[in-house]
Amino acid sequence: MAKDFERMEDSNRSANPSIHEVSDPGRRVFLLAGIGALAVGILAPWLAGRATASVREPLIGFTSVPVSEKDTVVVPEGYEAAPLAAWGEPVGVPGNMPAFRWDASNNAADQAVQMGMHHDGIHYYPLDGSSTHGLLVMNHEYTDDGLLFPDGKSHWTAEKVLKAQAAHGVAVIEVALTDGRWQIVRPSTYARRYTARTPFAIGGPAAGHALMKTAADPDGRTVLGTLNNCASGLTPWGTYLSAEENWALYFDGPDTRDADQRRWGLLRTGLSRWSEHDQRFDASRHPNEFHRFGWIVEIDPYDPASVPVKRTALGRGAKEGAWVATTRDGRAVVYSGEDARFEYIYKFVSRDRIGPGGAKANATLLDHGTLYVARFDADGTGHWLPLVQGQGPLTADHGFPDQGAVVIRIRQASDLLGATKMDRPEWIAIDPNALTVYCTLTNNSRRGRPDHPAVDAANPRANNTMGHIIQWTEDGDFDATTFGWKHVLLAGDPANERPEARGTIRGDSFACPDGLTLDARGVLWIQTDIASNELHRGEMQRLGNNQMLACDPATGEVRRFLTGPVGCEITGLALTPDGRTMFVNIQHPGEPLTLRDGLQIPSLHSDPADPRRYSNWPDFKPDGRPRSATVAIRRTDGGPIGTRVRVGRRLRNTRPRPRRALSSIDPRSPLRLLFLGVWLAPGSRAGQITNVGKWPQAPHAG
Ligand code: FEO
Ligand code: CA
Ligand code: CA
Repeated sequence: MAKDFERMEDSNRSANPSIHEVSDPGRRVFLLAGIGALAVGILAPWLAGRATASVREPLIGFTSVPVSEKDTVVVPEGYEAAPLAAWGEPVGVPGNMPAFRWDASNNAADQAVQMGMHHDGIHYYPLDGSSTHGLLVMNHEYTDDGLLFPDGKSHWTAEKVLKAQAAHGVAVIEVALTDGRWQIVRPSTYARRYTARTPFAIGGPAAGHALMKTAADPDGRTVLGTLNNCASGLTPWGTYLSAEENWALYFDGPDTRDADQRRWGLLRTGLSRWSEHDQRFDASRHPNEFHRFGWIVEIDPYDPASVPVKRTALGRGAKEGAWVATTRDGRAVVYSGEDARFEYIYKFVSRDRIGPGGAKANATLLDHGTLYVARFDADGTGHWLPLVQGQGPLTADHGFPDQGAVVIRIRQASDLLGATKMDRPEWIAIDPNALTVYCTLTNNSRRGRPDHPAVDAANPRANNTMGHIIQWTEDGDFDATTFGWKHVLLAGDPANERPEARGTIRGDSFACPDGLTLDARGVLWIQTDIASNELHRGEMQRLGNNQMLACDPATGEVRRFLTGPVGCEITGLALTPDGRTMFVNIQHPGEPLTLRDGLQIPSLHSDPADPRRYSNWPDFKPDGRPRSATVAIRRTDGGPIGTRVRVGRRLRNTRPRPRRALSSIDPRSPLRLLFLGVWLAPGSRAGQITNVGKWPQAPHAG
């Protein structure tokens, strides 16, 4: 979701000391000089473990694709990308598989068993350990109501609200690779949709809290629905974590909002118009409903009858996603960040160890533990500050009488602790061997403006239009309370006039990093989300459509792997356990623009009279409409994604060092496979390259 919601992304007016107040300006210059310089000095001991990087074989083996402004997906020579599971496709619920109607005339009941809109985070769950048969679970972040209805938002009705709510949430589909092409298996007993009306249980310290009780739910323990589901996480016990990101925008608030509502970005008039037919979203009438969203939800995709749970111990927020590491003694550590200007990065350490037995054996694991917020210090170290009621300033006197209040008002609690205000934390990726965690900070054009936080060591650029990627390494284990940090890179284009927009990338230029995944070979995949109103202009003019790149974090080398269609963002990535299929989500192709206060900004609403104005991907039907979809990417010779493609010779670059599997966890034996290294088989003998990887159905390509 390319956010340009000026009013909600900048609500942090707290006076907690940002590290710019204590940092050494000399060090900031040092950081801007680039990651090579940063590697010297204070972080040298920490980097010693990577000293052999210069003598190993290169991780990245494909040839970069150029930037693109085409309305198609382009992947490197030797690869192909095929569509799968576009918005509106029936998920495969037995006996209930309504076909997509190209004029968007499916009703709410149809939509509730079809793929939702605006695909985002995604994971692959193997069936019987297979890399050719499994479940895909993915988020549907939001809707473009101009595409969702034949007449858009005019004649707004209760039925339209129901359909919009049904197009949100999460989808579970069964998929199989048959004759070289991934397809949805229909019908399937696994097929399920979670929508903005599905009942969710509440777990953790906010369950039953006074701030969670509503007229419809006086116990405060059951919520209808999940919404604005952005990034996703995979647990070692086989469940799926999904983050409710910009939930605040769905509510209408009172004329005068109190301090808490302002801190959480509640608008007088939200963007959804849901409250007109669903009173829950009128925060004047039901102020506590606003507290019941913004959580990480946990779903068991292997059990379609299971009740999903909102895990409040992980803290509320405009969370991008949630990513899980494991301590040496088997406890879960969940990292997350809030994608909003000047918000924070968090981690949760479970009290208990992960138990054998999958989802049911770990049904309350994420309800008990310790929550922390990050402070990045100017000397390259950092601290995890406990968000624990009764510790430090988190007392009743400051509005925190219990832990439920802390997790519900996590922003205010973090303000009091002096956490570091970041440039919009998006995705997180974890290297379990190195104890290193990576996080994209997508941009923050308000950094350094008057009355806003200045630059600091961790967020070193004023008017940070380009974004950066930070990494930290925990001191000893993932439950550490201290860490060392540095930047992986500052994004940008060296051709830009403004020095702050040039970046430090070693390789292909990009901006606004968002999606981030570390694969089992150690390749860091970066997905971009430049807002539609900034694509192809200004400092972004040479960067083309949004894209996906591969980065070797040891060397900093970056190569462009994929470019998306017009107006899309690239978000969400999953690999099969064998590393030979990569699923990538293409969100909001053809995102329109609109004018507000004389400025062009991204719009959530296409013109229903002209739905194909900017894009008609992926179907290119003359009477169709652009649809978010997954693409399944494979090498034409069937080899591992990202490795070297050779013609007529055995591949030399497909046997990486063993690593813990990041995408191959079979929840039916979670602990066994948690520690199972992935050893990719030697690459198949490559045949003649025949496919340049362009979208096979795209008549507009070229
Ligand atoms: Fe849903 Fe922060 O992107
Ligand atoms: Ca984004
Ligand atoms: Ca995102």
